[in-house]
Amino acid sequence: MVDVIVGLQWGDEGKGKIVDLKAKNYDIVVRSQGGHNAGHTVVVDGKKYALHLLPSGVLNPNAMNVIGNGVVVYPPQLIKEIKNFGHDIKNKLLVSDKAHMILDHHIKIDQAREKLRGKNKIGTTGRGIGPAYADKIARIGIRMGELKDLDSLIERLEHYYEMNKGYFKYLDIEIPDMKKLREELQNWQEELSEIIVDTTKYLWDNIDKNILLEGAQATLLDIDHGTYPYVTSSNTITSGALTGSGIPPKKLNKVIGIAKAYTTRVGNGPFPTEDLGVDGDKIRKQGAEYGTTTGRPRRCGWFDVVAAKYAVTLNSCDEVAVMKLDVLDGFERVKVCVAYERDGERIDYFPSNLERIKPIYVELDGWDKSAHVRKWEDLPSNAKKYIEFIEEKIGVKVKYISTGAERDATIIR
Ligand code: GDP
Ligand code: IMO
Ligand code: MG
Repeated sequence: MVDVIVGLQWGDEGKGKIVDLKAKNYDIVVRSQGGHNAGHTVVVDGKKYALHLLPSGVLNPNAMNVIGNGVVVYPPQLIKEIKNFGHDIKNKLLVSDKAHMILDHHIKIDQAREKLRGKNKIGTTGRGIGPAYADKIARIGIRMGELKDLDSLIERLEHYYEMNKGYFKYLDIEIPDMKKLREELQNWQEELSEIIVDTTKYLWDNIDKNILLEGAQATLLDIDHGTYPYVTSSNTITSGALTGSGIPPKKLNKVIGIAKAYTTRVGNGPFPTEDLGVDGDKIRKQGAEYGTTTGRPRRCGWFDVVAAKYAVTLNSCDEVAVMKLDVLDGFERVKVCVAYERDGERIDYFPSNLERIKPIYVELDGWDKSAHVRKWEDLPSNAKKYIEFIEEKIGVKVKYISTGAERDATIIR
């Protein structure tokens, strides 16, 4: 049985919390795309963990954790996260030999290109994600498995730097000293070699176990289906979870889509329901909407049914989790965007181009005191109406409602 957890908005929906909550039911938790641009927060026994590369199953004593072929791995970050959790974590962690490696120059290229873009910058996390995936697609990337043969890796890198020296010069990026780089690679080899395997084979060998694929980023940041070019450089949707892990599509059982009770976005790009007034500020404050990875304030606004319907269809969601309902406590009225308008025309579909799109809102009565509620019956009646309204509009069951950051602040219907 293979299930998928996928973000339905622009990221940071609370995927980490749901993966952690559900991990006890799974034997294996898999990250299949993205890299350390992700920041997944898990709160256990009052302690907060921010995971960037490690799957959010690591806090569960039983689950194996896999970093799949579709992930881009920055070895120093992986080593750091392993150290934070203690070396024993290596006994339940595997990294795909086909996963691509982020090297320091990818990070420098990411940052230099953002600078060059000026006011059109994407607002990336500056982690080298785009340049590493670009190398992968251009078939000049370095894979994690190559760490096992340093001589040939160094030779490949020398060729890579030679081939790219003009570009590096243009961006004012220094080509690394090969002796120093070799020492660094040697260290990565010592730290990681034993856990780098063919994870596709591992997953196939264990296909009858319970496997959970943990999405990073989210649907509207998908390289193909998101708000291009203001997106990340991987396929963040269900189909990306399959290519990024090697799970055969027909083995897929259930897809759980994760959405906040409102919407946030970090970085630039269109955001139809963004609220730049006091309500947006209030959501940011009540929801502590600052990035887990970069600490940037997140842009905040209202729930967008048009975008959510697009996302549940693209991902073929069987059920949805609505997160952070408690953050809307204390609003007299709450807005939900039910359609868009462009140049006087009503639009019910999430279009390829969001230029001049304006939201059409329905207002519902607000509520107070949904925080930490654990039973549907105990929710304020207007909060229940809000959830039922969303459920009816997106046409998928809202199975989970989250009312706090801790594992147990969750209603399961
Ligand atoms: P992810 O990237 O999708 O895993 O989400 P992040 O961890 O980046 O952001 C979600 C934030 O909301 C984290 O700080 C969580 O601890 C927190 N969180 C998750 N669920 C809830 C909830 O229901 N209520 C509140 N108040 N916070 C939550
Ligand atoms: P999780 O998994 C929210 C955004 C960046 C930027 C765009 C491209 O925690 O939900 P990148 O560094 O990927 O090239 O940046 O994507 N972004 C995220 N936003 N949550 C994330 O991950 C994100 N990962 C990338 O802010 O707009
Ligand atoms: Mg996050």
